[in-house]
Amino acid sequence: MDVTRDRAWATLTHYTKSESLLRHALAVEASVRWYARDLGEDEEAWGCAALLHDFDYEIHPTLDEHPQDGAPILREEGYPDWLIETVLSHADHLELPRDTQLKKTLFACDELSGFVHACGLVRPTGLDGLEPKSVRKKLKQPSFAAGVHRDEVYQGAELLELDLDEHIANVVAALQPISRELGLRTAADAA
Ligand SMILES: [Fe+2]
Ligand SMILES: [Fe+2]
Repeated sequence: MDVTRDRAWATLTHYTKSESLLRHALAVEASVRWYARDLGEDEEAWGCAALLHDFDYEIHPTLDEHPQDGAPILREEGYPDWLIETVLSHADHLELPRDTQLKKTLFACDELSGFVHACGLVRPTGLDGLEPKSVRKKLKQPSFAAGVHRDEVYQGAELLELDLDEHIANVVAALQPISRELGLRTAADAA
């Protein structure tokens, strides 16, 4: 099969109805696409893997099922091995090697996209003017977006061999264009 964005979106929305999960998928997709562009990689392909990484979370909400029990569904739908392996590799508990740039990028964008999104939601201007410094400060407040695994955020930047501030700035830039879809305000709303 050809892995297209339309196809991936159809699979995602077949299994996922929750708005917050769909927003998470869109946020991670946008971040991974940002890096694909930056690295001259196949943006559509990378974006599809990102879009689908948590596609089964709603039907498999625990780690004894997610994402491993989603893999056979993707296989049945005809998705290629590289995409399925990438999806599986985002889960720490499976301890699979992150041996491609896409796997590294997906892992690095998963938790941080959620965290940056959360930072934007509490600001009147959303992501506009959000500095890496203030994201870093919030990372040190355990009560803020408590579900985000901080260690995975730091590990992600290391995996990409990027300074954390640079990685944060990239993710902010990636999410800004889809602020509306993510339910975020912008500077234009605050004016
Ligand atoms: Fe996941
Ligand atoms: Fe995720």
